[in-house]
Amino acid sequence: MLNKIKELRQELESATAAALDDVEALRLRFISKKGQLSQLFEEFKTVSPEQKRAVGQAINELKTFALEKINLLRESFENRGEQDVHSDLTRPSEPLRLGARHPLSIVRNEIIDIFGHIGFNVAEGPEIEDDWHVFSALNFPPEHPARDMQDTFFIQRSPDVLLRTHTSSVQVRVMEKTPPPIRSIFPGRVYRNEAISARAHCLFHQVEGLLIDENVSFADLKQVLLYFSRELFGEKSEIRLRPSYFPFTEPSAEMDVSCSICGGKGCNICKGTGWLEILGCGMVDPNVLTFCGIDPKKYTGYAFGMGIERIAMLKFGISDIRLFFENDVRFLRQFSGVA
Ligand code: DAH
Repeated sequence: MLNKIKELRQELESATAAALDDVEALRLRFISKKGQLSQLFEEFKTVSPEQKRAVGQAINELKTFALEKINLLRESFENRGEQDVHSDLTRPSEPLRLGARHPLSIVRNEIIDIFGHIGFNVAEGPEIEDDWHVFSALNFPPEHPARDMQDTFFIQRSPDVLLRTHTSSVQVRVMEKTPPPIRSIFPGRVYRNEAISARAHCLFHQVEGLLIDENVSFADLKQVLLYFSRELFGEKSEIRLRPSYFPFTEPSAEMDVSCSICGGKGCNICKGTGWLEILGCGMVDPNVLTFCGIDPKKYTGYAFGMGIERIAMLKFGISDIRLFFENDVRFLRQFSGVA
């Protein structure tokens, strides 16, 4: 019996496989239920007691060797399979999932595009600001509540270093440096010390607009805003201007656009009014022009400012502002292919 085991071992040692089928044949011959090893274990029962130890050990060694050999041969085929994947240049490529632009970027780019068509260029300013550019040059009285610790994140006091609470600060920087005519928009991130909820966040994004030239009137402002609203929300959109107050504009207004969801009939998004408030605007206060070194007797201008989150929420039907900042790919993937 020991001779038979030796022969089988030699057979295994010299075995090769040209294909996976050969490995399977080897497996059937040696380790299947009716294979050589099962037969050996069967014959083992008849071995004399003196030989049992030596024969048993030999069978076990043969079994271990057979399993190793067959596994090795099988693995060599699996590895070869992988190499084939890499070396077959005619194989179609792996499908790549396309990324999605962030909804805030989509809306910001759209706004930049719309104003770009009527000659507005884009400028940016710093997020870390001083009191002059965020408040004083914009005609905020010293005791104005917006300067309060409640709203503003201060980095340092006297001299004040703070996070800008609106992009109107960029108006000041541009007017200080650029002689009129000015026709620009300023997109950017702003910060306010607000409790975070579905409707408010401590950081959000605005786009500010500014036009300074000779003989600019409120009618020019209204027409530009109507053009903008129709480009953004559709050509049937209407706008209305309600008198309001901002320290840096006089007169000031808030603009509503007819609800694009219900077409102005009234729904839960516009709270039944048919109108959605989307921006603040007005004629630049002569004091602001003077502070920024522009002669208010020669020049007039208008400004407007809007929140990008609010517009994106209306456009895409998003009900919670926090979704913009959580970077949950399940949310972000929905904008794949939008722009
Ligand atoms: N800065 C204002 C805000 O953050 C928005 C605004 C209102 C900007 C009127 C303007 C404007 O330029 O004229 O609420």
